[in-house]
Amino acid sequence: MIIGVPKEIKNNENRVALTPAGTAEMVKRGHVVYVQATAGIGSGFTDDDYRLAGAKMLPAIEDVYAIADMIIKVKEPIASEYPLIKKGQILYTYFHFASSEELTKAMMEREAICLAYETVELDDRSLPLLIPMSEVAGRMSVQEGAKYLEKTYGGYGVLLGGVPGVTPAKVLIIGGGIVGTEAAKMAAGLGADVTIMDVSLKRLRYLDDIMPANVKTMMSNEFNIREMVQSHILIIGAVLIPGAKAPKLITRDMLPTMRPGTVMVDVAVDQGGCFETTKPTTHDHPNFVIDDVIHYCVANMPGAVPRTSTLALTNATLPNAIQLANKGWKQACTDDLPLRKGLNVVEGKIVYKEVADAFDLPYVPVDTVL
Ligand SMILES: NC(=O)c1ccc[n+]([C@@H]2O[C@H](COP(=O)([O-])OP(=O)(O)OC[C@H]3O[C@@H](n4cnc5c(N)ncnc54)[C@H](O)[C@@H]3O)[C@@H](O)[C@H]2O)c1
Repeated sequence: MIIGVPKEIKNNENRVALTPAGTAEMVKRGHVVYVQATAGIGSGFTDDDYRLAGAKMLPAIEDVYAIADMIIKVKEPIASEYPLIKKGQILYTYFHFASSEELTKAMMEREAICLAYETVELDDRSLPLLIPMSEVAGRMSVQEGAKYLEKTYGGYGVLLGGVPGVTPAKVLIIGGGIVGTEAAKMAAGLGADVTIMDVSLKRLRYLDDIMPANVKTMMSNEFNIREMVQSHILIIGAVLIPGAKAPKLITRDMLPTMRPGTVMVDVAVDQGGCFETTKPTTHDHPNFVIDDVIHYCVANMPGAVPRTSTLALTNATLPNAIQLANKGWKQACTDDLPLRKGLNVVEGKIVYKEVADAFDLPYVPVDTVL
């Protein structure tokens, strides 16, 4: 199959959908890989790295779309890319269709095969192509929190791990899923005194089993949160209720009870945030202060570390990409149920119910297009 890797053109997007290592895997299997010049540069991969791995470089995005049977991307296509998409072309990328009617209708019109990373779903309902970004954001939340706790940034002026003779800082993590677990591992590794809260007792039992001794678990409820925020100096919001807005667990009236210079990182900002005072921020202006409490609410945290994020994402996306290239989309999606769940729009039809429902458009069961 002929595979095309365009350079991402969405604002501030430095990731790339296929690494030189992924290119070599494709070429080894007899596929031809065309990469747009400088596509990998934001993630630290030069055109020569791709050439050495067996890719052919093309100067313009139009050339990549024109030649490829399958386009592998990171972000959804933007309006200037719509006319480049060919009938029957496979597009394997993040789409988040339910948030854009324009994008959904454009992809229907182009009659492409749209496989969305975010809806590929395993039998246990986990989303394997979203997990890597939660892992990055979870680990980063502690790194960013530690930075803003420094006095120069207006923080309380403490070192997370303390030093001999000085007690470590207290870190509160609300939500013990992927983000929360990775945050806890980082904070614990730095020697902080960590508490993770969750509403799932089963999850808390699991975390209690696997976490080191400086991580404690606690049931998440308003009473406990109200008490804990008074003594914890770094607070990380990491809750998710699938398909719903995040609940507001830290309310405005709790802020004056915290120590001045407390840092709150709301990783759940992309679902509306779990702090009442959360407002989405960007890497250019990541934080703001309310009642002497520093808020960090960047909606695409992995964007700050594109090299790590690209490697993490492509580790997860490559196996499916290889199946799609080897077998074609119909056979690959027939053989693999989790991958089939990634099909959202196929040859002009919406085959993912939630997307059709979001815009009151006709839905066609996916089995009928295979
Ligand atoms: N800002 C970013 O750049 C970025 C990047 C990746 C993920 N995220 C977001 O981070 C959030 C967490 O993602 P995840 O992958 O860890 O989800 P997850 O499903 O793995 O974990 C969420 C956890 O929250 C718990 N929870 C639900 N309600 C709760 C409550 N009231 N109190 C305490 N815990 C509660 C659940 O039991 C679950 O364990 C999501 O909103 C996700 O979209 C943001």
